[in-house]
This record gives sequence, C-alpha cells and structure tokens, in this order.
Amino acid sequence: MGVAAFAHRTNAGAAPGSASDWCGTGGVARPLFVPADRGFLGRLDAGEDRIVLRAAPLPASEARKAAGYSMAYLAEHRGKHYRNPTLALHPGQRVRVDFVNSVDEPTIVHWHGLGVDTRNDGNGAVVVEPGARFLYDFDVRDRASLYWYHPHPHGLTAGQAYRGLFGMIEVDDIDEQRLRSALDLTVGKNEIPLVLQDRRGGGYATDDADRTHGFLGDTVSINGAPCPYLDVATRIYRFRVLNASNARTYRLALRAADGMAIPFTLIGVDGGLLPAPRRCSEAFLASAERIDILVDLSDAAIGDTVVLETRAFDPMHMETTSEASAPVDHSAMHHAMPGQPVDATSHHGGEFPEGMQRALLQLRVRRRVGYRASVPAQLSRVERIDVAGADERPLRLGFSKGRWRINDRVFVMGETPIEVRRDAVETWLIRNYFTSMPHAMHLHGFHFQVIERQSSPDQLAPLGIGERGLLATDLGWKDTVLVWPGESVRIAIDFTLPYAGPQTYVFHCHNLEHEDGGMMVGVRVA
Ligand code: C2O
Ligand code: CU
Ligand code: CU
Repeated sequence: MGVAAFAHRTNAGAAPGSASDWCGTGGVARPLFVPADRGFLGRLDAGEDRIVLRAAPLPASEARKAAGYSMAYLAEHRGKHYRNPTLALHPGQRVRVDFVNSVDEPTIVHWHGLGVDTRNDGNGAVVVEPGARFLYDFDVRDRASLYWYHPHPHGLTAGQAYRGLFGMIEVDDIDEQRLRSALDLTVGKNEIPLVLQDRRGGGYATDDADRTHGFLGDTVSINGAPCPYLDVATRIYRFRVLNASNARTYRLALRAADGMAIPFTLIGVDGGLLPAPRRCSEAFLASAERIDILVDLSDAAIGDTVVLETRAFDPMHMETTSEASAPVDHSAMHHAMPGQPVDATSHHGGEFPEGMQRALLQLRVRRRVGYRASVPAQLSRVERIDVAGADERPLRLGFSKGRWRINDRVFVMGETPIEVRRDAVETWLIRNYFTSMPHAMHLHGFHFQVIERQSSPDQLAPLGIGERGLLATDLGWKDTVLVWPGESVRIAIDFTLPYAGPQTYVFHCHNLEHEDGGMMVGVRVA
C-alpha cells in the first residue's frame, strides 16, 4: 500500500530538538512522551488485585511543567508507582478500586464509556468528601477499546479534569490481539496513545465567555507536553487518540512536509474496533471522543516528516442572546449582538481560537525496517441495533437565559426527566438549534449507534460515507457524539440492563463547562 505523497521528496523536517514554531507556540520540540509500565500514564495491569487510587495535589516539583497540572491520580502496585495510570482491563474481569480523595474539594471518579451500575458510575449523585474514600467494585462488561476516567462532581468536573485528574482505561480482547499480531504492533513502541489537551497559562478560572463557549487553551499538549515529535521507522503505526480537552474540537489530519495530505486508516472509535478498516483523510474529534488510527509509513523515505495537525474549520459558535427572555448581562453579551453570529475569534481562545489550524505532532522518519503487513479486512463484529418498533425520543439542544439546555431544562440533581423502560430499544433524535454551537453529547451506562444525520454543515462532507448523512466515525459503537448547529442526529440505544433494580445515569454535553453549567439531564432506566 503505497503513499503517493512520499514520492520525490527530500528531507524538509527540522532537526530533532531544534527551536521550532511548527506547532505554533514558539516553543522547543521535544520527544513525545510515550507511557511505559509505571510513572505518568503508565500501564497498570492489576489483574484481580484491589488497587488504591488517590486523587492528590501534585507537588510543584513533580508537576509536568508544560501542562501545568496541579492534581493527579496516584497509584502503586507491586512496587511500581503510577501517576494517572492507564488501567489495563479484560472483559469479565472484576475491578476493585479503593478511591481516596486527598484533594481539598469533593470529587468522584466516573469510568467514561464503561457500562456499570449507578453506584459504580460515579455520575455525581454521590461524592467523596476530602479525606474520605469510596470502594468501586464492578465487572468489565464492555468491548475492547480505549476508555477513560475523570472526575464527575457536578459543578466541579471541569476544573478538576483540567488540573490533571484524568486517566485512560484500555480494555483488551481477542480482536485486539489478532490485530496486534497481524500488524506486529507493540504497545509503547508503534502502538501509542495520544491524549490531547489544550492548555492555558495559569490555573483554571472561567469568565462568562469560557462558560458559554468552553475553556480553550493556547497550546495543545499531547501526553502532557506541547510540540512533541516522534522518531519513527518505515512501518505501520497505531495511534489511539483521546480528546481529553475540556472543550476544544479538533479536525485531525496528516500531511507531509510539502503540505500534501496523507490519508490514514480509521480502525476504531469510542466503543472499539470498527467492523472494517476505513481510509480517511480527516476526522473531527470532540471532547471525550476517541479515534483509533493506523498511519502507514512503510513507503516513506528517511528524513521525511509527517505532521499530525488540526485543520482549519468553522467552529460554528453561533449562539445569540436574542431571546427576549434573556437577562441583560453585559459581561455575557458583549460578544454577541442580538441576532448575529458570535465572532468566535474576537474574544475567545486567545491566540488559538477553536477552528484554527495548528500542527500537533511531528513524525520524523529515521529508520528503515523491512516491514510487510496488511490491515485485516475484518477487525471486529458490530451487530446493528434493530430499531424496528423502537420509540423515538426528541431532544433539543439550545441556549437561553444565559445557560445551555437540553429540552429547555438545566440539570437538577435527583431529577430524571428521561424515563426509559428496562430492556427497551429507543431512538433519540438530537436536534441542535441553528443559533447554537457544536455539542459533544455523551450518555452514561450504554453505548449507542449513530444511525442518521440530517442538515449537517458542509464541512462534514469529506468525512461522509454517502449513506444517511453518516460519517466514517459513526460506523462503530459510540458513547459521545458531536452535534453541530442546525444538525439533527438520530442514535439507537439498546437499554438492556444487566443490573437488578432501577438504575440512574446522565446524558450531557462533554464540553465540561457546559456540563458544569447544567447541560445535563438525568436518565432513569427501570
Ligand atoms: Cu466523560 Cu459524564 O462523562
Ligand atoms: Cu461517561
Ligand atoms: Cu455543549
């Protein structure tokens, strides 16, 4: 499988470690941090052992300076120390995590993407006070994929996640093993997680614009630091990308040093491997979403440089404050004249507004290896949810009286406006008003399938598969879906519930400032 863009080119890459502004920060490129079996993001396979996970302030001496974290999840297992450990899990495994809150705010851990019962879901109805602990005890019932965990105390989620409380969860299975052996992938060498987070200098404090648009940073850190490069060989690499940013959406693509676009192969999304690989030129990745991609460098020349970038796009922040009922709040309104789109570049995101192009990671081809492998034509099985006879639930996303809302409501703890019959299949039609902005809608407890998109913005066209408005990233199991202004997205959910008794979950926007502001609704399944 040749990559045409590699032909007839010579080295245009910067020397390793040289000062550079290719990633827009004027900073110094440094090697990408690749997680190992301990330390930051280290892979912790505890088997059936009970582990202690502590949320703790991060001493300044240990803070990963570039990212400016001030908190971390800490763990220790068999003599190894971990910061923000990647929990390596297996289907059917029992997980026992003794969570200790050593930060000075209430918190709770949510296992994003895992279908656990309400008690273990950590959705904020129960929080752990400073100094207290909480024992999680659940079985892994999910498919293999890259999931993650982060705090979920209502109103405090965004700040805690931003300060450094997050970690990955990697669930493995036989399909994963088959893929790794077919492509000769080694975790930590040519299979590498990329955790994207945009960072601002200073700590976490929000103004009205931040609460309306989400908290955007000026630099993008990957695995804890901005401006990373990775020395690579002429073979296939697998990148498992998690957008752990509070609010920013990326339009991810690859290009050669001469600007030529390089396709990648999409193999998975939030809920694991797609049925079949799919060639893509780009993919949008909203807050909390994951994509799993293969980059084939086997025809690259030594000295070639490939850049992972976020392409320019229209961020479509078009909320207005034209509602007659909106309170007159000049600090919140200065950026939007009634009835006119907000100019997202004038006030927000500093040097790096949402939708601006930026190089994120350089791959520097340094080594030739003999590598011949092809991507398996079948990756996994994805049974389509049968929606014949399913009831449809309409959901509207909008802004009024200074707050983002779902069906005109702001979240109230303990209320469950969405009541679902246990074991039912439902379709949800999520409609985002045109005078809105994109919202990354996430459901706890259940994965879903995107079955249709209508009136999507034109900029989604390159990702389309030419069927019911669907995008390539809609072809697998999802737990988070980005809904653009004016767009209607229909999803199918199978509420088959393996737990006795009613369970309560939440459905919310994963722009963490929107979530904290109440763009969330309780869901009761009984
Ligand atoms: Cu990742 Cu309710 O969130
Ligand atoms: Cu979640
Ligand atoms: Cu939102």
